[in-house]
Amino acid sequence: MCGIVAIVSHAPVAPLIVDALKRLEYRGYDSAGVATVDQGALGRRRAEGKLINLERRLAAEPLDGSIGIGHTRWATHGVPNETNAHPHFSNGVAIVHNGIIENFAALRDELRRDGYAFSSQTDTEVVAHLVARELAKGIEPVAAAHNALRRLEGAFALAIMFEGDDNLIVGARNGPPLAIGHGNNEMFLGSDAIALAPFTDSITYLEDGDWVVVRRDEARIFDIDGQPVERTRQQSIGTSFLVDKGNHRHFMEKEIHQQPEVISHTLANYLDFTTNRAKPLNLPFDFAKVDRLAIAACGTAFLAGSVGKYWFERIAKLPVDIDIASEFRYREMPLSMRSAALFVSQSGETADTLASLRYCRKAGLPIGAIVNVRESTIARESNVVLPTLAGPEIGVASTKAFTCQLSVLASLVVNAAKARGMVDDAGEEQLVRELAEAPRLASQVLKLAPQLEALGRELAHYKHVLYLGRDTSYPLAVEGALKLKEISYIHAEGYAAGELKHGPIALIDESMPVIVIAPHDRVFEKTVSNMQEVAARGGKIILITDKRGAEHATVETLQTIVLPDMPEIVAPIIYALPIQMLAYYTAVFMGTDVDQPRNLAKSVTVE
Ligand code: AGP
Repeated sequence: MCGIVAIVSHAPVAPLIVDALKRLEYRGYDSAGVATVDQGALGRRRAEGKLINLERRLAAEPLDGSIGIGHTRWATHGVPNETNAHPHFSNGVAIVHNGIIENFAALRDELRRDGYAFSSQTDTEVVAHLVARELAKGIEPVAAAHNALRRLEGAFALAIMFEGDDNLIVGARNGPPLAIGHGNNEMFLGSDAIALAPFTDSITYLEDGDWVVVRRDEARIFDIDGQPVERTRQQSIGTSFLVDKGNHRHFMEKEIHQQPEVISHTLANYLDFTTNRAKPLNLPFDFAKVDRLAIAACGTAFLAGSVGKYWFERIAKLPVDIDIASEFRYREMPLSMRSAALFVSQSGETADTLASLRYCRKAGLPIGAIVNVRESTIARESNVVLPTLAGPEIGVASTKAFTCQLSVLASLVVNAAKARGMVDDAGEEQLVRELAEAPRLASQVLKLAPQLEALGRELAHYKHVLYLGRDTSYPLAVEGALKLKEISYIHAEGYAAGELKHGPIALIDESMPVIVIAPHDRVFEKTVSNMQEVAARGGKIILITDKRGAEHATVETLQTIVLPDMPEIVAPIIYALPIQMLAYYTAVFMGTDVDQPRNLAKSVTVE
């Protein structure tokens, strides 16, 4: 998703803006730009590709000025090139935008009829012209911006700057987040607190419909009707400790290796390892009384929820409806008033997940959110926040957030099972003891990295890979395929192993490795049969199992990755690590941009 940074200060801001944009690189982008007002005149530099290209442009043609706006663009309308890069100009107006203006075509036609010429293919440019047209009527800048905002439909975070005024930026938010950073006689706007961390940790998040007039010494917030509103000013959570790769080549590698620690932090937030009891949660619903749990999420977060379904239904006997959020929000699922809703999201800004949350909230359901960003929109719109304590996840491919989401879900399941009388004290203690083993097991499994690196080198030669799993290993199979495809660009599919004979077996031959995720659990023997079907057709099997599984897998494999034996409830958390490492090393051998894979964004804040 796009990133926005705006600064009104005293010293030249262009280099500061570029540095801040670097902290938003994790969001994914394909071009970038910056504009300033210098001695009353608007100046702009833009570049296709990575920020280094913009820096080169600025080195060759410096931009002065103590007020500026900057942008990293993730293309929605128009190809990723310099012409379509933000900021966009129109007659003394400069603007950067994150989101989608849904009525841009009608606005563009209207503006063209008024004589405005368009130089880009973007939806954003209509906003610049709308503001310019208001100015041309003799309306002053703030009112001009407000009038333009009232014409927009869709999702937008905006920062607008004006020729001739080096002490005014107008920001606006409707959907994608925008935060005010309060400085000492300087002010900032940014897509999130991470971008603003070097400048300030005093942050105010705008709400949907808000717009703000920013000057060096003030930030006045208004609602869409122009009424002043107050928003909470908060200390952002230590985002400044943020991000370097440590001694790792990529953020993804670092984050994979952080998992023992962050899984431990997350579990400890919900489970008391001295009493081996689940900690009481102030949930807005009673697990003993709800008749269903609706879970909606996207991507990897959806797959965490899918594992959770198995756990809630098997251990707590609580029926779960799990949906991909982009499907859930439109299928008009009848919601029982005795049900609760749970949303899983690393960023807490995913548009489809947020829309699903609002659908359930409108229906009156109590809402829980499992998020990694506590000040995110999804968190703020939920009745209870159940944080994953993964720390900022910078790699676009989600790793530590996934295992922390599973850790929160497993902890919730213990709570639910106890509340619903499905486990007694001894049963609760056993589950908590088993989950307490997760950090140690994760550390042990990370030691398999050399084996997975060698396997990744192998896998990099293939064009297609099939992942298979049963029960809680089925969502892991889909997650393994997602990890591989999103960072190595190798086509991969994850399938329920029992579905093999219903179609995918037609694909099996020596040109497509089959990765089978199969701890020695209740369905292991069934999965062995599937592996035999694959082997009988020349398929190459890579088995990820445990010691018992390796002993009982009566089939020849290309390679067997042996994990320690472990309790059933811990397996999905720990088996995520080898599939993450396999995807990581394969991508490294493919030479792709592991942390910022092509076309992807870390947080999908548009539909
Ligand atoms: C996972 O590796 C992907 N980056 C993607 O599927 C991600 O999980 C999905 O976009 C959901 O994001 P969220 O957790 O921030 O809502």
